[in-house]
Amino acid sequence: MYKIVKYGDPILEKPCDPITEFDTPELQELIEGMIETMQAAKGIGLAAPQVGVSQRLTVIDCTTGEDPSQQIVLINPEIMDKEGSQTGEEGCLSIPGFREDVTRARKVTLRAQNAKGEPVEVTGEELLARAMQHEVDHLNGILFLQHLSPLKRDLIRRKIRKMIKAGEW
Ligand code: NI
Repeated sequence: MYKIVKYGDPILEKPCDPITEFDTPELQELIEGMIETMQAAKGIGLAAPQVGVSQRLTVIDCTTGEDPSQQIVLINPEIMDKEGSQTGEEGCLSIPGFREDVTRARKVTLRAQNAKGEPVEVTGEELLARAMQHEVDHLNGILFLQHLSPLKRDLIRRKIRKMIKAGEW
């Protein structure tokens, strides 16, 4: 299990490096640890930078651990196609306590690699599409705060800064 990195740590706001070595014990360990960490936090997605690893890897499970067959591991994902739009509440394990409406594409198709380096293509709609876009953003150093109005974003940043000062973050 990993400690989840919180907003304020610069690793969350820098683009991650592609993964070039597959099928290694280290990669398998990282994936399993990330899935455990995500489940323990009751999240639906977790990106490697959120556990302090600046690599293009993310895990998603819209059932929050209820159905292991729904676990998705995406390495080096690239969004190929976006359709429609949806607006709904979004949060992030690295920004606990803050949830805001974010507009995203309603349907997304991405290409990625699995732990063996084999190509995979995943199409998701609604919540899965939202999770995929949120997680790919993480790998590019983008947090959901960047999708909010500057006013809302600054308000949240100010609150977090206060919490950091007070040692509550
Ligand atoms: Ni997040």
